[in-house]
Amino acid sequence: MKITGNTVLITGATSGIGLGLARRLKDEGNEVVIAGRRKDAIDEVSARFGFDGVVIDVSDAESIKNGVRTVIERHPELNVVVNNAGIMLPENVLEPGWLPVAEESVATNLLGPIRIVAEVLPHLLGRAEAWIVNVSSGLAFVPLPLTPTYSATKSGIHAFSEAVRVQLAGTSVGIVEIAPPPVRTKLMNQEEREEAMPLEGFLDEVMSILRADPDGHEVLVDAVKPFRNAQAEGTYDTFLEALSQRR
Ligand SMILES: NC(=O)c1ccc[n+]([C@@H]2O[C@H](COP(=O)([O-])OP(=O)(O)OC[C@H]3O[C@@H](n4cnc5c(N)ncnc54)[C@H](OP(=O)(O)O)[C@@H]3O)[C@@H](O)[C@H]2O)c1
Repeated sequence: MKITGNTVLITGATSGIGLGLARRLKDEGNEVVIAGRRKDAIDEVSARFGFDGVVIDVSDAESIKNGVRTVIERHPELNVVVNNAGIMLPENVLEPGWLPVAEESVATNLLGPIRIVAEVLPHLLGRAEAWIVNVSSGLAFVPLPLTPTYSATKSGIHAFSEAVRVQLAGTSVGIVEIAPPPVRTKLMNQEEREEAMPLEGFLDEVMSILRADPDGHEVLVDAVKPFRNAQAEGTYDTFLEALSQRR
């Protein structure tokens, strides 16, 4: 994806990676629209950083329809959509109450981006150059046993991105997957977690990868490569064993 001169919608951009990407992309000369499920947070962050802001709860089909329609009305030049919003919640299938967590995870992390694609694709196909950017995870490639459904949604996002890219070959719309490693955000309270990557370092690397390879399909910072390549490198079993220790 080219990193300047776009009009970009980013979901879940009131904090963490989404807000970080919004700020970086604005600095590169893009028009940025942020979306989030909480109106107060959207209003506060939009005013603070000079974005347009729209309420979209990605777990709600109506909210996606209304929100995307509003964005396209206000910004007909929209040509990039970043599916970033996500939740990460632990579940234990041996304890009661895990199914609603699993269902919420699928609705937010997998069905949400799919519905967003369904809603924006007709518009994007009419643009000369457009991209859908899907945020997956290193856990798409080796699951974290603490979060089975989260991991499954991210594998799903990877597979969906790969397959849709093939269907869209020859159109004006490209598909980019960003697969982050652990990054210090509020997801799973990782802001202070030593093993996770500092957010600004992650964003530096993402932007330089995008800048260096505008035609790239996957954005893989160095720290995520052991996850991405575990199968190919024969380290999958030991990696899964190590991830099994996380509580
Ligand atoms: N941080 C990591 O280690 C890591 C690693 C791999 C992948 N990722 C992925 O990166 C993406 C961003 O996560 P993050 O680390 O930046 O965490 P974060 O700071 O918690 O950001 C997640 C964002 O998604 C929003 N969100 C959650 N549910 C939503 C919904 N139903 N509708 C709209 N927005 C919703 C949150 O809004 P609220 O403030 O309202 O909750 C928040 O703005 C996620 O897809 C995550 O899976 C993160």
